[in-house]
Amino acid sequence: MRALIIGGTGFIGQHLVNHLNNPIIAGRSLKKIKNRSPGYEARQWDPTQSLGPGFFDGVDGVFHLAGESIFHGRWNVAKKERIRNSRVESTRRLVDGIGRSAVKPRVLVCSSAVGIYGDRGDEPLTESSRPGDDFLAKVCRDWEQEALRAQEFGVRVVLIRTGVVLGRNGGALAQMLPPFRLGLGGRLGNGRQYMPWIHIEDLCRIMLKAMEDGHLSGPVNAAAPNPVTNRAFTHALAQALHRPALFPMPAFFLKIVVGEFADVLLASQRVQPEVLDKSDFTFHYPDINSALSNLISNR
Ligand SMILES: NC(=O)c1ccc[n+]([C@@H]2O[C@H](COP(=O)([O-])OP(=O)(O)OC[C@H]3O[C@@H](n4cnc5c(N)ncnc54)[C@H](OP(=O)(O)O)[C@@H]3O)[C@@H](O)[C@H]2O)c1
Repeated sequence: MRALIIGGTGFIGQHLVNHLNNPIIAGRSLKKIKNRSPGYEARQWDPTQSLGPGFFDGVDGVFHLAGESIFHGRWNVAKKERIRNSRVESTRRLVDGIGRSAVKPRVLVCSSAVGIYGDRGDEPLTESSRPGDDFLAKVCRDWEQEALRAQEFGVRVVLIRTGVVLGRNGGALAQMLPPFRLGLGGRLGNGRQYMPWIHIEDLCRIMLKAMEDGHLSGPVNAAAPNPVTNRAFTHALAQALHRPALFPMPAFFLKIVVGEFADVLLASQRVQPEVLDKSDFTFHYPDINSALSNLISNR
């Protein structure tokens, strides 16, 4: 099966490329694709524009991973519009393009996020739990609705509700490691919020399964089966680095430093990967200590 990865130049896409046989990479700039993934076939698409003809030629399955980063930059009105449009509107144009195309992919694996559940304390959350109603939850819900429209064109759609991805060379860990290495890390707020996380290798294996397993469709929680509180995560990371974590960041201070993004860091989602459990998926990194020791010892 030949795959096309939209947003393949990003943190997850760059890992996923290594799990696929001769994928095609799509993004806004051919130059960026050539720099990040030399030797791969590249296709250009600016998600603010309609898709041109021939975009799906030779493509069996599409991974849609593009989206404005939620981690970098302050969440002002313009940033929030980019976060939303680069997911919801881009997915609408992608699915419209599938509808118009004579050659259609068989499957669309679209990224989503555990943010869809909002802030839910210690309530166990499965794929059938109701969505939340904050900004990110609404973005995720609308993003998923747009992706699901591809079913009208006979395309199988899998929605990967991704937890915080732990991997090398980017993502959340790259932001956390510098202060923790200096012994300046600490819990966020009271640290009681659950933080669903996943090792990048397990996430790529879930994405491959989503592409290949014809029985899988709809939402899939991509989060390790043992979610931890932020306090437990802080402790595990400090231990893996052999450093203390003595500097908790109170919620009010976090809000001053990062603005509205603090709500994401303080939200609690105790997510369970029920669909994967039922489909006999085996996590290589089911607990936080094994994931961190793999990522930190091999750096
Ligand atoms: N990393 C995580 O922990 C995590 C957790 C949950 C969900 N997710 C979701 O998984 C997807 C991939 O995550 P990632 O960490 O790989 O993302 P990333 O590295 O921040 O970005 C992925 C790609 O999106 C494209 N992009 C960036 N800004 C854009 C914009 N304004 N409009 C259109 N395209 C834009 C870029 O590709 P080009 O420049 O080549 O176009 C970029 O390489 C995202 O949708 C993210 O929300 C990630």
